[in-house]
Parts: sequence; structure tokens; C-alpha cells
Amino acid sequence: MSFLLPALPYSYGALAGRGMCQETLELHHGKHHQAYVSALNALVEKNEALQGKALEQLITLSHGRPDLAPVFNNAGQHWNHSFFWQSLAAEQGGIVPAALARKLDADFGGVDEFKAQFKAAALGQFGSGWAWLILAKNGRLEVTKTPNAGTPLATGEGRPLLVLDVWEHAYYVDFRNRRPDFTDNFLNRLANYEFAAANLQSA
Ligand SMILES: [Fe+2]
Repeated sequence: MSFLLPALPYSYGALAGRGMCQETLELHHGKHHQAYVSALNALVEKNEALQGKALEQLITLSHGRPDLAPVFNNAGQHWNHSFFWQSLAAEQGGIVPAALARKLDADFGGVDEFKAQFKAAALGQFGSGWAWLILAKNGRLEVTKTPNAGTPLATGEGRPLLVLDVWEHAYYVDFRNRRPDFTDNFLNRLANYEFAAANLQSA
């Protein structure tokens, strides 16, 4: 059985008024994400030991294995992008539900402090990667970042709640080289904090 590109939970044009145009989503989902899925399927097809494994298993078993780096990269990118599409709100974005706001207050000292730390992680990731809100093993919310196809699933540092793709392909059409503006736009207008709150609730 091969991996499939998941449908977006909204139309390609749905976020156009909030800083992510149709062209960005068509390229990012239809070309970039599809390419990771296709490459992963080709790698699994060539390697019997990888067949029949869930995506999360492929990520953990290939992590730190130089011989399986292409598997890790494509599996991680498939998982991260699938999670990223859900981290964008179909209609209203940037609204923090009360229960999540209380937890952000407790663990960061406020929603604005959380946003500042998240922005620092997004900007501090040199080159391509991802900025995350996670529920750390100690039960506290934390912000972290991963390079390239890295994911907290592999490092085990915590459970992902929300993610921002900071690869240039995520923002170059809408924001050119301005990753800070892209990150602010995400935090204030696009982020699906309901999704983060639901992930926290089920953790
Ligand atoms: Fe991406």
C-alpha cells in the first residue's frame, strides 16, 4: 500500500485573503508535498524491510541512519506537511481558545510571550525547517525548531500541537524573503489554535 497526498482541509484559494495565495498552496501542496509522497513511495517500493510500516514507524526507524536518510527526509516531510495543513485555519485564524490561552499564560507568561518565542524559533532556524509548539514530556508547553525534515516525532522531545513550515517555498510567493512577516501573519491571522487546543486536549 502506498502513501497518498492528503486532501487539504480547505480549498486552494481559501487562505488568499489572509496572506497565503492560491498559487502558494497549489505549488506547496500539489507539487512540493506530492513530490515527498512520491519519493517516499519509490523508496519503500525498493526496500522490502520498509514495506507495510506506518509513516510514524518509518520516521523513527530511519532517524539517525545515514543509509536511510532519504527515507527519513521524505517521510518526515510527508508527516510535517500533513500536520502543517491542519495548523492553518480554514476560516478564521489566529484566535486562541480560552483553555489554550490559560495554558500559554501558565507556561510562557502570556499569549504574546508565546508568540515572541515562536517567532524567535522561526527566525532562528537557519535555512530550511520548522517551528513547533509542543507539549513537552514534563507537561509544559514549549516552542522548538527542527531543521530540514526534522520532527519532534523523531527526537521524542514532545507531542506536536502546531507547526509552521519555514522553508522558503512556504512564503516566497506571498512574502518574498520576509520570513518575519510570514511568521507574524501565521501567528495572528492563519494559525489554527483550535487544532492546537484539540491536540493538547487529547494528549
Ligand atoms: Fe513545505
